[in-house]
Amino acid sequence: MRYREAYSPHLITKLGLGSSILDPFCGCGSILIGAAENGYSSTGIDINPLAVFATKVKLTPLPKGKIAALKRFAAMLTNTGDLGKAWPLPALSIASKVFEPVITDTLLKIRRLIESEFSDDSESRDFLMLAWIAILESVGSYFKEGNGIKYRNKKRLKTGYVQRLEGAWQTERFGDDQELFVRDAFEAQIQMMLQDTKFWRKGDWAKQEVVHGNVLEMDSLLGTRKYESVIFSPPYANRFDYFESMKVELWFGGFVDSYESINRFRKASLRSHLGADLTRPYEPISELEKLIGLMDQDASSWRMGVPALLRGYFEDMRTTLKHCRKTLHSGKCFVVVGNSAFAGVIVPTDVILAKIALESGFKKAEVLVTRHLTVAPQQRNQLSRFQDNMRESVVVLST
Ligand SMILES: C[S@@+](CC[C@H](N)C(=O)[O-])C[C@H]1O[C@@H](n2cnc3c(N)ncnc32)[C@H](O)[C@@H]1O
Repeated sequence: MRYREAYSPHLITKLGLGSSILDPFCGCGSILIGAAENGYSSTGIDINPLAVFATKVKLTPLPKGKIAALKRFAAMLTNTGDLGKAWPLPALSIASKVFEPVITDTLLKIRRLIESEFSDDSESRDFLMLAWIAILESVGSYFKEGNGIKYRNKKRLKTGYVQRLEGAWQTERFGDDQELFVRDAFEAQIQMMLQDTKFWRKGDWAKQEVVHGNVLEMDSLLGTRKYESVIFSPPYANRFDYFESMKVELWFGGFVDSYESINRFRKASLRSHLGADLTRPYEPISELEKLIGLMDQDASSWRMGVPALLRGYFEDMRTTLKHCRKTLHSGKCFVVVGNSAFAGVIVPTDVILAKIALESGFKKAEVLVTRHLTVAPQQRNQLSRFQDNMRESVVVLST
C-alpha cells in the first residue's frame, strides 16, 4: 500500500543500526520489515490505525494452505459474473463523490465477498482487506495531494484548475467498463501481494511487534523495554494532516465510523498540523520564540495558528526524545526530518531537535544533511538567501 510518508528499510544497514530497534512513528512498517529481513527484532508505534493494520498484515506470514486459498479466491472472483450484495456505504459525507457509482457498487460487493468468504480466518481476510484498501485511490475519483485530497474531474494547468469534461474524463481514466476496471485493479493488487509473500520465507518475522498508540504515552506502551537503536521520521512541522489525506481509506476500511472518532485521532496526533490539539501546554524555547518574532504577522499561516503549532510541535518532540533516550542503554537515535518555512522564516527543525535532544539526556548531536527541499513559490524571493536551510536531514543522537 502506497504510504507517501514512508522511508526505506535500507536505513537499517546504511546507518548501521543494532539488532533490536524501536521506531516510534512506524507508519506502514518500513523499519519493522527491514528488521525482519535482517533477522533483527523491532517494535513500532503509530497512532494511525490504518498504518498499524498495514504493518500487521505485512508482518503476519501466511502458511502455504492459506496462500493457496487466497489464490483460489482471486480465481473465483475472476470467474464470478454476479458479485452479489454490497457492503454498507460508510457515513463519510463525501462517500458518493470520491467514487463513480458503479465503482462504489463494485468495491462494496467485493468487500462483502471478502467478509463472507473469510469470516472464520481473520488473517486471510486482513490480507485481502489490505489489497482492497490499497486500490481505493487508483479506482477513485480523488487523489492525495498536498494537505488533503483533490478530485480527478479537475485538471491542474499552470494558470490554475480547469473542469474536465464530464463523462469524458471517466472514460479516459476508467475505460468503458468501470466494474471491470475495479476487478482488474483488485486482481493485480492481490497478485502483487502474493508475489511479495516470498519475502516471508527468509528472515525472522516473529520478533516484530507493532503497537497502536500515541508516542507521547510511550512510557506506558513500552514499560521498561530497551533497544540498541531508535530510528524514526516524525511528521514534519508542515501542517500536513495525515487523517485528512487518508480519510477515504480510514472510513472505507472501517477504521473510523464517525466524525468524532476521526477527530479524536486528529487531535491526539503530533502537533504538526492545525487539526491537532494546539491548546496542550508547552515550554518556550528561546531560539524558536526569536524565529516566531521574525515572522510576518499578516501571513495567512500566522493567522491560522502556526506559532501555536510550532510551539506544540517542539514540545511533543521533546517528550518523544526524552522517552527515546530512556529506551536506549547505549547506542544511537536517528531522526529523519525536514525543515519548513512559514510567514517568511525558515524553521531549522533539525537544529532545534538537536538542541532539545542535548537537553533531554543525549550527549552528542550531529545533523547530516541528506537533500535540499524547495520553498513554496510565494516565499521563494523573500527566502532566496536562506534556501540552503530548506533541507531534509538525519539528526544523529548519541548516548
Ligand atoms: C513520516 S510518517 C512515518 C512513516 C514511516 N517512517 C514509514 O516508513 O512508513 C509519521 C508517522 O507518525 C504518525 N504519528 C503522528 N502522530 C503520532 C503520535 N502522536 N504517536 C504515534 N504516531 C504518530 C503518523 O500516523 C505517521 O504514520
